[in-house]
Amino acid sequence: MKFTRINKLNGELCIPGDKSVSHRSIMLGSLAEGITEVHGFLNSADCMASMNCFRNMGIDISYDGNIVTINGKGLHGLKESPVTLDVGNSGTTTRLMSGILAAQDFTSRITGDASICKRPMKRIMTPLSLMGADITSELENDCTPLIIKGKKLHGISYNSPVASAQVKSCILLAGLYAAGETSVTEPYISRNHTELMFDSFGVPVQVSGNTVTVKPADKLYGQKIVVPGDISSAAYFIVAGLITPNSSITIKNVGINPTRDGIIEVVKKMGGNITFSNISSDVGEPTADITIRTSSLKGCVIEGEIIPKLIDEIPIIAVLACFAEGTTIIKDAAELKVKESNRIDMMVDNLAAMGADITATDDGMIINGGKTLHGTTVDCKLDHRIAMSFSIAGLNADGETKIIGSEIINTSYPGFFDDLASIMN
Ligand code: S3P
Repeated sequence: MKFTRINKLNGELCIPGDKSVSHRSIMLGSLAEGITEVHGFLNSADCMASMNCFRNMGIDISYDGNIVTINGKGLHGLKESPVTLDVGNSGTTTRLMSGILAAQDFTSRITGDASICKRPMKRIMTPLSLMGADITSELENDCTPLIIKGKKLHGISYNSPVASAQVKSCILLAGLYAAGETSVTEPYISRNHTELMFDSFGVPVQVSGNTVTVKPADKLYGQKIVVPGDISSAAYFIVAGLITPNSSITIKNVGINPTRDGIIEVVKKMGGNITFSNISSDVGEPTADITIRTSSLKGCVIEGEIIPKLIDEIPIIAVLACFAEGTTIIKDAAELKVKESNRIDMMVDNLAAMGADITATDDGMIINGGKTLHGTTVDCKLDHRIAMSFSIAGLNADGETKIIGSEIINTSYPGFFDDLASIMN
């Protein structure tokens, strides 16, 4: 894909469903008894990987492109997959599903693409092993392929060294099957979609400060789930609207769960013109329509407990910071190094190649905004968020920005380029 400078973005769009909520709907719907209907499911490669894994374990799941219907077989209804479970590029599928597989009465093998096979799995292998699981890395490098031999589990109180919803959710899912109570304490609160969805499927969850506790479940009840629009996908348009001259964009039905809304706080702190309408919390997660207009921005410090609330948005926030007056410092974000790519290096190297004043640090980056960007070639290395971030940067740079491997956007947002084109006229 190639991008050149534009002078305006205008219009309204409805971004697709939340990736995190969509994955969880497949998993809990499969473990529930009876029918779960999912509205607004994200039709992307990552979420389809979750769907196909559970189909391979004997769950009848139909999808008409609009509604996903899951015929749940209960907590003990999964069957051994006749094939290796293929998670593609999806860390969420890998880590959450491992928590479920650890407690089944069969053995599973999980693998995925070149990016997933480099991502750290020790962070789930350690707590699951403490619960009595038998989980090993086939190549003994703490990455996929993983072999999980189902075992009887027992509850633990786990102090997670990282604020990670994938780690927390993996342990909580295993906790559904474990004898006794299971609790996870995080350094900062990570996204709470699992806890919210447990509650709606009839599993009591206790939350106290940064600690979440579950007891073994008897039964999950099939549900209707309405998936909100993904704020992590909306983020590209939020930033595009702020930095592109003469722009006004309204994004409809965006999920604004307070454990995910860090980008909104940052945009406000930087002086962005962002307004909300149609705020609703009628079904499931809270949503709003968000309107953004071209703004004069100033740099800010982003650190501490806000980091998990915007971890996936940091690549596009780095682009935003290039268009702000003054310095933006991003700290406490070493987790960026173990995402679909090393997102500190990818953002720093490629934005620097575009002419930005940006320096990598151990746990983030420092950006002195205000330099004019010019086009370059970016190899996005199987990272969808890098592809989308540099598309927006390219629309606000001199010359041509070429993105290699941009089809990886299909993992989270297959219609991204079409949606972008729809507001370029
Ligand atoms: C996710 C949690 C986050 C996030 C990922 C989705 C989830 O990962 O980066 O895109 O759905 O639980 P970590 O838990 O590794 O921070």
